[in-house]
Amino acid sequence: MAGKVDGLGFWTAHLCDGGEEGEFVGLMMLPPAHGPDQPDDPTVCDLGYRLVRRHWRQGLASEASRVLLRHAFDTIGQSRVIAQTMAVNAGSIGVMRAIGMRYVRTYYPQFDDPLPDTHLGEVEYEMTRTMWEATSW
Ligand SMILES: CC(C)(COP(=O)(O)OP(=O)(O)OC[C@H]1O[C@@H](n2cnc3c(N)ncnc32)[C@H](O)[C@@H]1OP(=O)(O)O)[C@@H](O)C(=O)NCCC(=O)NCCS
Repeated sequence: MAGKVDGLGFWTAHLCDGGEEGEFVGLMMLPPAHGPDQPDDPTVCDLGYRLVRRHWRQGLASEASRVLLRHAFDTIGQSRVIAQTMAVNAGSIGVMRAIGMRYVRTYYPQFDDPLPDTHLGEVEYEMTRTMWEATSW
């Protein structure tokens, strides 16, 4: 597993209120890619997000994720950003697609205490540096 990488980590997201930091919206995550099936590569990181429910469906996770993609590729020189979620998590997959990531695979991890629909698997999406450089926003 990749260790500490400067520039990766966790952020809180807030509304921007006239230039001031406004209401807390949620947590944005960009740690090194981790897990037994991930390459031991410090230039691959894992995008994640968790927003307060009243802020859902307003484009905020997509907006914050675009900022983190720019940070990952342009500021700290990552080669690839992945994102993983349950196959039934339409909101999370919606963000991945909205920001231009592409489907990589469906996989079936084993859990001692699985959530409902775990048997439908987890999906992984990615954005490579080549994809990022072709992005128009
Ligand atoms: C997943 C989550 C972060 C999405 O945040 P959000 O700010 O509502 O997402 P956005 O508004 O940026 O939506 C992005 C796209 O996904 C779609 N989408 C969002 N939620 C959706 C849902 N529940 N069902 C279907 N599509 C959804 C949007 O319509 C949008 O599509 P578009 O670009 O075609 O318009 C939010 O629902 C959340 O925090 N959920 C709980 C935590 C979680 O599941 N995190 C991921 C775990 S891996």
